[in-house]
Amino acid sequence: MTSGNTVSAKIFRYDPAADKAPRYETLEVPLEKEMRVLDVLDYAVENAGVAVGYRWFCGVKRCGMCGVSVNGKPVLACWEKATPSMVIDPLPNMPVVRDLVVDRSALEQATLEMEPCLKRKEPYESFPEPLTHRDFEDAYRLMTCIECYVCTAACPVLSDANHREFAGPASLVQLAKVALHPKDAGERVAAALKGDIYACISCYECSNVCPVGINVLEDAIEKLKRRCAAQSESNPGAKHARIFTDLIRKFGRIHPPTLMRQSKGLMQSVSKMSMALAMYRKGKVQVRPQTVQGIEEVRKLFKAVEKDQ
Ligand code: SF4
Ligand code: SF4
Ligand code: FES
Repeated sequence: MTSGNTVSAKIFRYDPAADKAPRYETLEVPLEKEMRVLDVLDYAVENAGVAVGYRWFCGVKRCGMCGVSVNGKPVLACWEKATPSMVIDPLPNMPVVRDLVVDRSALEQATLEMEPCLKRKEPYESFPEPLTHRDFEDAYRLMTCIECYVCTAACPVLSDANHREFAGPASLVQLAKVALHPKDAGERVAAALKGDIYACISCYECSNVCPVGINVLEDAIEKLKRRCAAQSESNPGAKHARIFTDLIRKFGRIHPPTLMRQSKGLMQSVSKMSMALAMYRKGKVQVRPQTVQGIEEVRKLFKAVEKDQ
């Protein structure tokens, strides 16, 4: 049933084999009740003769194939409601194959290299296996992941050329899914460190966009980071994270000179002296750490979290 209104869709077009540069194609689509972004793309091909390339399979948020970016936000085309004005782009952080179709093979390879399959200590004995829902709670949440890589498209670290080794949130979710399984005995810390897990800046962008509601940062990445920190204190990322946390527990805020000296060592701290002086002159750092008001509340929070773990 049409509402009489239209959708103005600006669709990214680019064929790297034939086009010199990307362009946009704009079309007006009659807005229907409950219309999704996927319906707009279907209309473009079937009714408007616009041969835009896009990918989908299930149409019901199951296969994870239809990721696109709408007005700058990574979404699933089959689940996102169409709005009167949309700019539809391919998912960022992945090379374009054609139009809205991206090449996910490098990310899928990174996931495979993490060997996200259960590695048991002992052979599987019989069915049903003695597991309670409580044993299984952490891993179960992550099993709803549909591997759509929408979280990976939102990750600012992956847009940064300095972090090409970072496996990205979707691969880390797959790793955490097995690492948190009560029957898993695989060596997961090495895989997480190889995937440069400490490059993650805990910004929550991945959690904010996950179409199935996984809190990617808290339910997967932070749990893996904690395991890495517990098992691998010599890793620079783990050491930095521990010193950062210790400073917050002690003073309620970080103290950059102490963080730098303790995590990077004296020599590296001295080499950054000119930057430290510039920050000091601008009032960005104090010489001595200062304790925030209400520090007892901060310490209570730490105690509560540690008791929970
Ligand atoms: S929380 Fe980490 S993995 Fe998630 S988007 Fe931010 S940097 Fe990327
Ligand atoms: S965690 Fe969410 S956004 Fe990321 S791949 Fe899985 S389902 Fe997609
Ligand atoms: S088409 Fe399968 S998740 Fe969108």
